[in-house]
Amino acid sequence: MRVKAFSLVAASFMATSAGHAQTVSAPIAFAVCAGCHSVQPGKTVFGPSLAGLAGRKAGSVPGYAYSPALKASGLTWNAATLDRWLKGPQRLVPGTRMPFPGMQDAKARKAVISYLMTLR
Ligand code: HEC
Repeated sequence: MRVKAFSLVAASFMATSAGHAQTVSAPIAFAVCAGCHSVQPGKTVFGPSLAGLAGRKAGSVPGYAYSPALKASGLTWNAATLDRWLKGPQRLVPGTRMPFPGMQDAKARKAVISYLMTLR
């Protein structure tokens, strides 16, 4: 079920990026995130939408049921905090509900973060 949902989301994600020529295209490494995150404002998949992430306070999308840990983290998303988050979400925010072990490849993290910083 989860695999099926993932491919559906991935397919619609690719279709969406193809439909907007002016949008910066997502790096390959973002595919693993796209199963749980939309980049369209207000669209929840499993995780919160990542639209407008740059400069946003952690846990601040209205209506999304965040973990108390992430809401209380006091983080603001920028290249530095995202680098630590993507390296090890549970290490940066113990108790977060993002079920993601982390991305150890620094280049892949950098590609994903540069992309995230462009999302409006
Ligand atoms: C299996 C699902 C899943 C995957 C894969 C996943 N996430 Fe998440 N993500 C979540 C959930 C759930 C939350 C909310 C966590 C919480 O409330 O503690 C979250 C939260 C976040 C947040 C904080 C958003 C906010 O509004 O504060 C960011 C940023 C984020 N994820 C980025 C990513 C990126 C980038 C990737 C890919 C490298 C990724 N996530 C992969 C499920 C996922």
